[in-house]
Amino acid sequence: MSPRQALGEGFRHVFGRLPEGIWSAPGRVNLIGEFTDYNDGYVLPLALPFSSMASAARRDDDLVRVASAQRSESGEFSVVEAATDKLRPGATMGWASYVLGVIWALRQAGAKLGGVDLVIDSDVPIGAGLSSSAALECSVALALHDLYGLSLSRQDLALVAQRAENEFVGVPTGIMDQTASLLCRSGHALFLDTRTFEVRQIPLDLKPVGLTLLVVNTGVKHALGNSAYADRVRDCRQAAKELGVPALRDVAPENIDDALAKITDEVVRRRARHVISEQSRVLEVVRLLESGRPAEVGPVLSAGHRSLRYDYEVSCAELDTVVDVALANGALGARMTGGGFGGSAVVLVGFAKTEAVTMGIAEAFAARGYSPPQTIEIVACDGASRVA
Ligand code: GLA
Repeated sequence: MSPRQALGEGFRHVFGRLPEGIWSAPGRVNLIGEFTDYNDGYVLPLALPFSSMASAARRDDDLVRVASAQRSESGEFSVVEAATDKLRPGATMGWASYVLGVIWALRQAGAKLGGVDLVIDSDVPIGAGLSSSAALECSVALALHDLYGLSLSRQDLALVAQRAENEFVGVPTGIMDQTASLLCRSGHALFLDTRTFEVRQIPLDLKPVGLTLLVVNTGVKHALGNSAYADRVRDCRQAAKELGVPALRDVAPENIDDALAKITDEVVRRRARHVISEQSRVLEVVRLLESGRPAEVGPVLSAGHRSLRYDYEVSCAELDTVVDVALANGALGARMTGGGFGGSAVVLVGFAKTEAVTMGIAEAFAARGYSPPQTIEIVACDGASRVA
């Protein structure tokens, strides 16, 4: 049975009828532009071949009922039920809060919604820095959008999903993940200006030039709710305030030294240095890809990792091991990706070196007593869509 058929079957089992449709939304890996999205900056993610799927059907009343296709240990589906007009931020915990949060945020945006039955499944690794939560939010947002004939743009839907995460779940993330899940195209990375919402599809033609991207999941769970993410957001706001600009995005890279000299706190200064220099790295990667020089992207990725490791301090020993070992085995570039403190790294490598890099990382993890990492070769996929 295909995953779609299994989901339809799960829906029939839980709700005693067939879903009206199935919607799918991918996770993402960010190529470069880390922790810039809450500074109004640039990002460059691509969609992964892993996604969240939402099977859904409207109801005649105002109830939302949602179940995960991943059954509990007893083999039962547990169903979370709520009245759509009684949803309140903070009242629900766990994965269901992302689903209920989207319904709450759609209603806040003025959408006229009735009730809905949902069964969700996902193969996006959880806690791996690959946006499993945004994938879940976006699959549900698109399902509700289509079922209730709303006419929101994909950008508006991304904002709705982000609001669900920020206000309903309570994590102060930026807009990158939801935009990537909804707007990415296969064979491309998505250049997004998070201030203006301008997007550009950047060709990522690696295969013809003998290159590939690896995602290495360290298996170290990051907790985005972790106060460290919020601490960094606060540091960046403080830096912008001291510099008298609306956001760190407003500091031109050529003025970086003058700007940094004005920041009194040493830690805040390093946070700002990461964000301002990362902006230039995104533009540099876009320029290289658009001029057909993808191999030269490698050193820019590695420079990004050093900045995240020493200035932004969001890496960890396992991620540093992946990057160091990948480079020592001939990778062109490597960096941690996503929210940090664990999760995944992205590696740019030539075909001839892929095996050496993969083996080298596995051996280094074993030698250090870390759990085995998961390394996969990825291609850039399409964003969210209705699949049945
Ligand atoms: C998480 C957040 C994003 C972004 C990244 C870091 O994935 O959800 O908004 O801030 O971390 O770049």
